[in-house]
Amino acid sequence: MDSRYTFHRPVMVAEVMRWMNLYESGTYCDCTVGGAGHLVAMLEATTRAKFIGIDWDPNALYFSRKRIKPYEDRCMLIEDSFINLGTILNRLQIKRIDGALFDCGVSYHQLVTPERGFSFERDGQLLMQMSPNNPSLAERLKKTTKEEIIRVLKEYGDVRNSRRIGTLIFENRMHLTTTHDLRRLVERVTPRKFLKKNLQKVFQALRIWVNDELDNLRQGIATAVERLNNGARILVISYHSGEDRIVKHFFRSLQTKGTLQILTKKVIKPQETEVKSNPRARSAKLRVGEKCVHS
Ligand SMILES: C[S@@+](CC[C@H](N)C(=O)[O-])C[C@H]1O[C@@H](n2cnc3c(N)ncnc32)[C@H](O)[C@@H]1O
Repeated sequence: MDSRYTFHRPVMVAEVMRWMNLYESGTYCDCTVGGAGHLVAMLEATTRAKFIGIDWDPNALYFSRKRIKPYEDRCMLIEDSFINLGTILNRLQIKRIDGALFDCGVSYHQLVTPERGFSFERDGQLLMQMSPNNPSLAERLKKTTKEEIIRVLKEYGDVRNSRRIGTLIFENRMHLTTTHDLRRLVERVTPRKFLKKNLQKVFQALRIWVNDELDNLRQGIATAVERLNNGARILVISYHSGEDRIVKHFFRSLQTKGTLQILTKKVIKPQETEVKSNPRARSAKLRVGEKCVHS
């Protein structure tokens, strides 16, 4: 186990605290613990409320376990995907929860650790797995089709030149082993002035694909809402239009059915001051829903 962890301040922590509606008698679920920034803030703000923290990255949990040590009598960390939220709660014999938080996507630590292979700026093995149970990007590329790669680049990244880049990746997939191998392919066909943006988009699209992020989110938030108590809230922070669209449509469909009330008529964005001190917050969007009836 690699014990290093690059911690970063959590995004929109004040807004999360404002909207979460914490009660001392409640049980809350942080479905994306990461470095436990939000989780520790919620623990610090309460004295008796109980928390379950989930993350599928053992590295994040190894670090967070130390951070939550003073609260371990009322906070349990679980290494799993939040897609299994229902099974996790059943195992713990918890029928309903009083709030759920999803802070989507990749953590700062995952992004800046070269050995994890998420970043085009740092050379490392082409892995991009958030969980060791997911396939690595290099493995996944070897087993896929050209059309699938092109679709992923278009749909998940809105990549400029996605057909050309997808074709190049497909033709070279058997020899792609490092992040810089992938970077060089993108460089070959992208004009200089679009290069940085396009590299970001290609890496983001492939990361979303290899970790199955959008399907996980769809199922994770559906289970969370199902298990919320009446009046309890779900908070989702997304960083990518694909994620935000899923949350927006899902919340709207539940509001139409009368099972969820959308509390954020307009999506909440971070304050200018936060964006200045933390560029990662720039694309963050928070949506909040409140359960109306048990489903
Ligand atoms: C943006 S970070 C969360 C940061 C955290 N809120 C904090 O305060 O430090 C996202 C985390 O969600 C985790 N994650 C992403 N998809 C997941 C999934 N399907 N199941 C469990 N954890 C997941 C990642 O491993 C990562 O640690």
